[in-house]
Parts: sequence; structure tokens; C-alpha cells
Amino acid sequence: MLPVCRIEDLPSGESVRLDTTPPVAVFNADGELYAVDDTCSHQDASLSEGWLEGCLVECPLHAATFDLRTGEPTCLPARRAVRTHRVSVVDGTIHVHLTEPAAVPMPARTPVAATTPATVTASAAVTAPVAAVAPATATTSAAAALGPLAAEDSAA
Ligand code: FES
Repeated sequence: MLPVCRIEDLPSGESVRLDTTPPVAVFNADGELYAVDDTCSHQDASLSEGWLEGCLVECPLHAATFDLRTGEPTCLPARRAVRTHRVSVVDGTIHVHLTEPAAVPMPARTPVAATTPATVTASAAVTAPVAAVAPATATTSAAAALGPLAAEDSAA
């Protein structure tokens, strides 16, 4: 539970930004308090610097709007929701209850025995043509670079 400010310090239509990681914006939308991640899901703009209209906040950079009740964008260019956080008022002080970050699923692991032969075969197939071309390219480049020198050496 993170204290924000006194309720009288956040009048209707105003917002405050918390320097948490990630930053959180707290809004007083017509007397209802909402908290969402402050960074727009489209690019790097601060939603606490946007414009409130009812329970919608408009991003100040490209004008996507977000529903503060759900965090969902209501128009483009934003496509992803911002995280919402629960807000409470205790003894006249606004508090934010930070939502845990969404769990990032680990990539599925394939048994080693099943992938090893395929990986070796693919690597050999890719490496073979490069190995055959590389000496020819190096020889051609060296001959081109040393050509005039080789001619001077034989003249001297
Ligand atoms: S940064 Fe918010 S809409 Fe583009």
C-alpha cells in the first residue's frame, strides 16, 4: 500500500504521478479515484500529463484514450491496455495498491535429444557453402589488393 497524498490535494479533474518503477498515475475523475501505469502503451508518454474526460484519459502525445476503470485503450494508436491499480482512502490519505507485474511465460523447452541432430544438420548445411566461398573471396581480394605491388616487385 503506497501513500499518495491527502484527498483534498487531488481535486476533481487532476492527476498526480508517482515515481515508482514503473511510474503510476493517480486520477480524480469526477470524484472517483483511479490509478494506472503512467506510461502510455503506445510510446513513451506520461498519461498523468494527458486530459481527463469522465473516466477516460487522453494521451498527450498521439491522443489515444484509455478507460481508467479497465486500462483498455478505446481508440488507436494504442492497442494494449495499461495496468490498473486499486486505490483506497485511509484517514483522508489516498493509497495505491500496486498490481503485481504480469508473469512473463518462459519459452517452452524442447528435450535436448530431440533438437541436437536437427541443429547440427542445419549448422553444417549453412556453414559448408560459406567455407567453400570464403577462400575464393579472400584470394580474389588479396590478389586485387596486391596486384600493383606484385607487379612493382617483379619489375625491380
Ligand atoms: S504515446 Fe500515447 S498514443 Fe502515442
